[in-house]
Amino acid sequence: MAIWFPGAYDLIMSPLEKLKFNHIRKELLQGLKGRVLEIGSGTGINFPFYPSGTVEQVDAIEPDQMMIERSEQRRKRSRVPIQIHQQSAEDLSFADQTFDSVVATLVFCTIPDPMKALQEVRRVSKPGAPVLFFEHVRMEQPIMGKMQDFLNPLWRRFTDGCQLNRNTLALIKDAGFTVNKVQPYYKGLFLVIECVNG
Ligand SMILES: C[S@@+](CC[C@H](N)C(=O)[O-])C[C@H]1O[C@@H](n2cnc3c(N)ncnc32)[C@H](O)[C@@H]1O
Repeated sequence: MAIWFPGAYDLIMSPLEKLKFNHIRKELLQGLKGRVLEIGSGTGINFPFYPSGTVEQVDAIEPDQMMIERSEQRRKRSRVPIQIHQQSAEDLSFADQTFDSVVATLVFCTIPDPMKALQEVRRVSKPGAPVLFFEHVRMEQPIMGKMQDFLNPLWRRFTDGCQLNRNTLALIKDAGFTVNKVQPYYKGLFLVIECVNG
């Protein structure tokens, strides 16, 4: 990862967060309980939104050291205990059926092997555990989808491997999660996907 990326990420996200994303994250995280796994916690943008009443503990995984360092202040200020583990979603160090809930935001676009990561999420979460996603995806509208396909090679180069046109909802279904709710934002560019494991 380029040295400037974690700082630039927070800077670029700041207006989007204020506009809408903060609200989406807050609502999403309200659905979590018990011991929570966060996938790809990045600069810790979600950390302020964990509800202290229902969430006991968060294990956040993030492979990039610079992202982890940047998230440290948010981790310290969080209302719930958060432990950050430097690891990738495709190879989680946790035992089977460890977690009561899982959350992933704006991360399955970047994970090199998303199916392997989803299978790991299934393995480490308890049967019936809520698994919640907020992701940008390939849009259903044909012209917009084609535009994303066209822009993707350039986009990937400047966004640390983020894929603009990934069909994350299809991957989630293929991995065997039960999808309970899909809420589109910005004409389907972003989806909140609420599932359970199994
Ligand atoms: C676009 S950022 C999103 C960060 C944060 N979740 C958010 O909502 O702002 C994507 C994050 O995924 C992380 N990432 C990349 N590959 C990963 C992998 N294989 N497993 C877990 N996280 C990964 C990156 O290091 C980066 O922090």
